[in-house]
Order: sequence, then C-alpha cells, then structure tokens
Amino acid sequence: MHIASKYIQAIKNGEVVAFPTETVYGLGADAWNSEAIAKVFATKGRPSDNPLIVHISDFDQVNDFASEITEAAQLLIEEFWPGPLTLVFKKKSEVLDIVTSGLTTVAIRMPSNEIALGFISKTCPLVAPSANKSGAPSPTKASHIKADFGSSVLVIDGGSTQVGLESTVLDISGDQPMILRPGVIGKDQLEKVLNQRVLIDDKSSEKPKSPGQKYSHYKPKADVKWLGSEDEFEDTSSLFLLLNTEIKQQNIINYSQDFEKLARELYDRFRQADIDGYQKVIIEPFDERYSSSVIPALLNRIKKATSI
Ligand code: TXA
Ligand code: MG
Repeated sequence: MHIASKYIQAIKNGEVVAFPTETVYGLGADAWNSEAIAKVFATKGRPSDNPLIVHISDFDQVNDFASEITEAAQLLIEEFWPGPLTLVFKKKSEVLDIVTSGLTTVAIRMPSNEIALGFISKTCPLVAPSANKSGAPSPTKASHIKADFGSSVLVIDGGSTQVGLESTVLDISGDQPMILRPGVIGKDQLEKVLNQRVLIDDKSSEKPKSPGQKYSHYKPKADVKWLGSEDEFEDTSSLFLLLNTEIKQQNIINYSQDFEKLARELYDRFRQADIDGYQKVIIEPFDERYSSSVIPALLNRIKKATSI
C-alpha cells in the first residue's frame, strides 16, 4: 500500500495524522512520543483520564507494550488480528503514562485496513483515538474529520470505513475476560475461541472499567430517540431510521434488518441529520426475532446517543 511521504514524515516530526481503519478513522500519533500524544488530546479536546489504543502492524510489536501474553490472548490474536478487536493487557513499565492515563494496563489492536497497516509499518506503532472532536460521533469518512477540524488536521482519505462502529474492547488483564465496549466481534464469537465465559462490563456501574464509556459520545445535535406510538412519519423535521417497517418517503431510511448496513451508516446519518437540519433522529427498536452480533454494539451506541 503506497502512503504519501508527507504523512509518514508528519508522524516522524511528532505531528498528528488522521487515517482510516476498518472501524472508524483514527487520529494517529507516535506511541513513543509524549509531546505528539499530548497534541492528540489537545486536538480532540479529550479528557486526560481517557486512555488511548495502541495500533500495531506487526505481531511482534505487541511485546513492546504488553508485559504478558497469556494463552487466551494468543488464541484471540490468532483468530481476530488483524481486525476490530482491541485487547487490554497488563502493560510494560516503559509504556508512556499519557497513553494509558496512568493505568497498569494498555489497550492494543492490529487494524485490518490496508492503509492503516501500511501507514503503521512505514512509521511506528500509533496511538489513535477516533478522529472526532470529543463528544461528536466517530468519523467514518474523511469529510467528517474536515467538518470537526477544518483543514488543520492532515487526513489520509481511504473512503468510507467498512464496519462503521468502534472496535470491541476486551479486557484480558484480569482473571476473567470482560467486554468493556461492545463491537462487531461479539461475546459469542469470543467465548467460542476462548472456550470460557466472557463477562460484559455493566455500563450502569458507578465506575466503568473502560474510562471512555463514562463520557458522552456518538451524539448528533439532533435529539436521538426510539420510535414510539406518539411519532408521526409525516413529521418532516424528524429523520426516521426504520429497521423492520418499510415506507418510502424522503425523511425515512429503510434498513430492512440489514444491521451491518445500519452500523456502517449510523454515524454518517447522525452527522448528515444535523447538516440537513433535522430536529430528531428516530430509530425503530430492534425486533427480538432477529439476532446479529452487531446488535449489542448498535444498542450501546444508540443508547448513549438517546440518553444525553
Ligand atoms: O475502532 C477503534 O477502536 C477506533 C479506531 C480508530 O481504532 N479507536 C477508538 O479509540 O475508538 P477511542 O480512543 O475513541 O476509544 C478507546 C476506548 C475508550 O473507551 C478507552 O477508555 C478504552 O478504549 N481504553 C483504552 N485503553 C484502555 C485501558 N488500558 N483499559 C481500559 N480501557 C481502555
Ligand atoms: Mg472515540
């Protein structure tokens, strides 16, 4: 994969560069350069107690950050990397505190996007939070980054991202594996590979284990709500995202149970709703008859968008 030298040079100079991954775009900086990482926090307006994910392109690089690769970790790496699974390991003492917000663990993933892999392999392991202003929906297109930051941030344009929701974050640093953030790789898939029960962090708990989960996220300016009997499709100030019902109308998008498509498009719909001046985004609840590993991840993001 050819990556223009100005992007590679920018990382080497301690600058930040946005790049595509298969989930969402990341705002990348050298994982060993604390000044560059400070720019990531400043650019995003990100609270300093929210740690970053280290992105690698080579399996050996995990050993530079993680102090211990357990058997479970090995199984997960073999099955799901490169791909949308972030693993939380016990960290090596050399890992910069600004990466982990002073935690004793470090989050690592190997993205599968070819541009991401090429970029990391030509530079170095990169920290990369989603390349949005803190609180805004994650970017799934280069234009979303321009909307948040103007032209002040360099962006490698790789088109629309394939998955559309952030990676599954799985903590394997303790006795029992625990999902801290649901993503397209679901609990069942993880349990099958581990042959072990996987817990899910209770988001309602006072102290979420994944610090990022306590911040408002994923939200457009329009109010996001679930479809209820009081809602009228004739209300043209609302954008409707329908999962089961099918109605052809300008303010209605039909997904016909294509949950992967909704995942791919959700953040773009949120952002476009604001551009188009909609007051509300109204989403039809999931019908329990259908199941998909992406539904818990979608529910997590939509709940966050509706609750704030
Ligand atoms: O798909 C993704 O993961 C995207 C792309 C760019 O790779 N990145 C992303 O990064 O979503 P960010 O910073 O927006 O979210 C990282 C999440 C946060 O919820 C953070 O709290 C959690 O991972 N996290 C990072 N390090 C952690 C650690 N050591 N322990 C627990 N949670 C951690
Ligand atoms: Mg984020």
